[in-house]
Amino acid sequence: MRAPPTTLQRILAFADEADQASALARALDVPLAIIERHRFPDGELKLRLPQPLQGTVVLWRSLHQPNEKLVELMLAAPAARELGARHLILVCPYLAYMRQDIAFTPGEAVSQRHVGRLLAQAFDAVITVDPHLHRISTLDEILPASRGVALSAAGLLGAWAAQRVNDPLLLGPDEESAPWVQRAARAGADAIGRLPPLDHAWCRKQRLGDRSVRVLLPPSAPIGGRAVVLIDDMASTGHTLAIAARQCLDAGAASVDVAVTHALFVDDALDVLQRGGVRTVWSTDCVPHASSSVSVVPLVADAVRAMAATLG
Ligand code: R5P
Repeated sequence: MRAPPTTLQRILAFADEADQASALARALDVPLAIIERHRFPDGELKLRLPQPLQGTVVLWRSLHQPNEKLVELMLAAPAARELGARHLILVCPYLAYMRQDIAFTPGEAVSQRHVGRLLAQAFDAVITVDPHLHRISTLDEILPASRGVALSAAGLLGAWAAQRVNDPLLLGPDEESAPWVQRAARAGADAIGRLPPLDHAWCRKQRLGDRSVRVLLPPSAPIGGRAVVLIDDMASTGHTLAIAARQCLDAGAASVDVAVTHALFVDDALDVLQRGGVRTVWSTDCVPHASSSVSVVPLVADAVRAMAATLG
């Protein structure tokens, strides 16, 4: 185990994410402390942090079910500074509100920008995994005066799939998944010692509503007889992947598995996938879920170490 930078003093987390945060604490050899949280009958929150704090403090909070957690962050960050933290790094494996990146109809709040600004005001740095940055290229663009690190789990998922599925065709369910699919195809090939990237392609998608999409398979990638692995940054209701899976099977695919970074899987999403014909679902532990099979903790630990060293 490598020694932590001397300024890295403490990992903070909430009880429901203690497992992932303690894995990070072990990887960095830094003590973990849990923030006590009380919810009053009227819905307000009271937090109690360990004290005193000093040096660089890391807060682990993944933003699935984000609304109450954003309030937690707005309370925890200034409290940590008042208690002595010099620098604050937010490790936010799933960064919510990134899909609303333009006003799709006049008057809509561009949540990506506003949530980014909120986090930038509270933290010196934000480390996240596969944020949905479709129309912007770097996280820094939405984190004014803070530092953003966007890691990717696509390589880990590509390697995982390549080691479990023979000669897979990696398929993104929409154009936005192209960067993840390309990265997964390269890492998958590396993992099995093959030179060219794994076969890969992506579909086109038209969103008709929250739970309704139309998916068009890529004409350039024959699906018949192939073991398809659908790769995406996230699954929410599961409809995108389920429709893509059904299309693949109707086109003669031998099997369809799914590998996603963020397993949001709201309500009956897993049933939706099963009804779509999906065989296995794999995800990372960015969002703790029964399908979590690939850990991003080693990736995050390296990024925290590097960031702590630059913050000094
Ligand atoms: C959007 O482009 C994302 O990459 C996902 O494809 C989308 O959020 C999935 O949503 P759902 O599972 O609700 O179809």
